[in-house]
Amino acid sequence: MTNVQRSYLPAAGRDWMLPLYDPLVKLLGGDKTRKALLEQAAVRPGDRVLDIGCGTGTLAAVIKRLHPGIEVVGLDPDPRALARARRKAQQAEIGVQFDQGFSDNLPYAAASFDRVFSSFMFHHLPEGERGNTLREIRRVLKPGASLHMVDFAGPGSRPHGSLARMLHSSERLKGNSEDRILTMLKQAGFSHAAQVMRGTMLFGRLNVNYFQASVPSGQA
Ligand SMILES: C[S@@+](CC[C@H](N)C(=O)[O-])C[C@H]1O[C@@H](n2cnc3c(N)ncnc32)[C@H](O)[C@@H]1O
Repeated sequence: MTNVQRSYLPAAGRDWMLPLYDPLVKLLGGDKTRKALLEQAAVRPGDRVLDIGCGTGTLAAVIKRLHPGIEVVGLDPDPRALARARRKAQQAEIGVQFDQGFSDNLPYAAASFDRVFSSFMFHHLPEGERGNTLREIRRVLKPGASLHMVDFAGPGSRPHGSLARMLHSSERLKGNSEDRILTMLKQAGFSHAAQVMRGTMLFGRLNVNYFQASVPSGQA
């Protein structure tokens, strides 16, 4: 059940900045990053896909456009972002289900998705919600299914330029080190948790990490 009283960090940090979110992410190189994440996930016909922290719904819409026959669900606590996501899907004449909710309390049945995506969502979570979020993702994935996650690199990476340094110095990125994320994925019960790729945004100035983690086959 959705608890709308809870607080969350919205897509662009502040509600009034939401209209700037899509153009800003495009400028930073978000389209290329999401495309790489999608290729990593190798979505198959018949898959059921969940995008957690879907924001304005860009990734969910791209997935549905590329795979019209599959069911795509996006979840986010922010009603403003969800309204934009629904508008985007309507304008593109594609059917995506957008639900309001939080990643550590997913309103879905166990073992009901083949792929879960998390694109620039993890650093929006306070430390105390990260473990429960990964356990929830693990719960809703089917045996043999997988999580595909991309986020800004944490401490240890070398951002260049003032905007990159500002983003990387965010308190929320402190828990985004590769080791920390891999440890949390294993603690949540995933097998084969791995950092599969490193990338950059903002013309090479901003470091991002891609992760993949699977649920063992034959085990819900
Ligand atoms: C930077 S945006 C990323 C949006 C989208 N995934 C993308 O790639 O553009 C982070 C999103 O996470 C959402 N978020 C924040 N806290 C959350 C939570 N506890 N559960 C699910 N989503 C959350 C925010 O509302 C926001 O839309």
